[in-house]
Amino acid sequence: MSGLEEKIKASLAEALVALGAATSTKGLEEARVAFIGTKGRLIELSRAVGSLPVAERPAAGQAANLALNEVRKAHKEALEALNAKLTQKPGLDVTLPGRRSPLGRQHLISRTMAEICGIFEKLGFTVVEGPEVETDYYNFEALNFPVDHPSRDMQETLFVGQDLLLRTHTSPVQIRTMEKLKPPVWIVAPGKTYRRDDDVTHSPMFHQVEGLAVAKGITMADLKGVLSAFATTFFSPDTAIRLRPSFFPFTEPSAEVDIACVLCGGRGCRLCKGSGWLELLGSGMVDPALYKFVGYENENVTGFAFGLGIDRAAMLKYGLPNIRHLYESDLRFLEQF
Ligand code: DAH
Repeated sequence: MSGLEEKIKASLAEALVALGAATSTKGLEEARVAFIGTKGRLIELSRAVGSLPVAERPAAGQAANLALNEVRKAHKEALEALNAKLTQKPGLDVTLPGRRSPLGRQHLISRTMAEICGIFEKLGFTVVEGPEVETDYYNFEALNFPVDHPSRDMQETLFVGQDLLLRTHTSPVQIRTMEKLKPPVWIVAPGKTYRRDDDVTHSPMFHQVEGLAVAKGITMADLKGVLSAFATTFFSPDTAIRLRPSFFPFTEPSAEVDIACVLCGGRGCRLCKGSGWLELLGSGMVDPALYKFVGYENENVTGFAFGLGIDRAAMLKYGLPNIRHLYESDLRFLEQF
């Protein structure tokens, strides 16, 4: 092999290394010019073939042609690969964290309602429901509100027709339940209630849970025991309750139930206006007048009932100053719970 042929082969190897190492179009062009540009090393070597002795020319000429072709091919391939890389779209980065779709959750009122019903279910009550559009009969008359009696004014009723109204409380479910079932009856009835009322502690639509227990031998001690169990479960294990005389047309005697202030524990503060107590619900022994409306007059039973504001219970439990927070659908507020 002639010395020139050896140089050509060495130069070919160098050219291939240089082309393979180029990482930019500029670097690639520099390598191309260095080896196969007009004054490139391989070009110069192939020109030198003509000055070899005649016998050595064919082999050296062939080696030069092969080398030039190979370098041109390698340059073309390297250029294509580089362009493909540069124009490539950003690919799928499988290491990126996924996008979370927003997760809905139960509204504070729904959750509180479920929690309250759950507590009473554990005490043996069954959950039932009644209609939100009621008749005067179920909302008032059968609950012993005499026609034209001032006690109806306590309710700020929203009427939707001659004899139809939006129920002002869940108490009508007491009547509907006793009409359907024979005693013993242990039910709680959660749901929406409506009144013409709107301020920081009252919303025109709010929620109550009604409770009714009718069986032989039920006394006011049962009422107090059940409500005390509720208060210690729902609020905190040391929550005390007290019963205050009150009046409702459908209970006799009637009692307002207070809990020891959730803020000061009974010492007296701004929330409880110094009294140490917070009003929680209305209750009492079922007025026997109701038994006549539902056909219970010969059942020889007694019973207790209570009506609890769910919105109010949630406000007390979570220290909410304004009932409107519950109904403005502001996620910044709702997501805290
Ligand atoms: N229905 C009454 C109200 O909304 C609350 C109530 C009081 C319900 C006494 C009762 C009860 O069942 O016994 O103001």
